[in-house]
Amino acid sequence: MQDTSKQLRSLLQDNTHEVTILSNMSAFIMQTMENVSWVGFYLAKKDYLYLGPFQGKVACTKIPIGKGVCGHVASTLQSIIVKNVHEFEGHIACDSESNSEIVLPVMQNDTLYGVLDLDSTQLSRFTQKELQLLEEYVHILEEKLQTI
Ligand code: SME
Repeated sequence: MQDTSKQLRSLLQDNTHEVTILSNMSAFIMQTMENVSWVGFYLAKKDYLYLGPFQGKVACTKIPIGKGVCGHVASTLQSIIVKNVHEFEGHIACDSESNSEIVLPVMQNDTLYGVLDLDSTQLSRFTQKELQLLEEYVHILEEKLQTI
């Protein structure tokens, strides 16, 4: 496990409220990853994703499952790296300066809890290596969600 994953685990360790956990996790990612313009969670409820704790500019509040990059990940349950958001059909532009994006599903008891979404103004900002790191982070979060 990478050092930052250990740091994240200890940061979340003593907290029992999900807003606390998601808020500090988004701040942690913003502080530790360069050239990220937005990071946060969209939380699943029925047919929609709703804006959760985040760092960055004001964002879209409600995304239908299946729409945009986040909604696509919520319906396929597969992570995605979008090198150029302008080439992704149906991309939802909350921030017109965003150029690339990475989104991962977050699961709780085999059902969709929400997604973790990161944006960058740089094209092709996110790599497979970073996807692996973010997968570790999501795994830590999923383990934590089991306990609260
Ligand atoms: N671009 C996302 C919407 C959320 S924002 O990036 C914060 C999408 O297409 O789902």
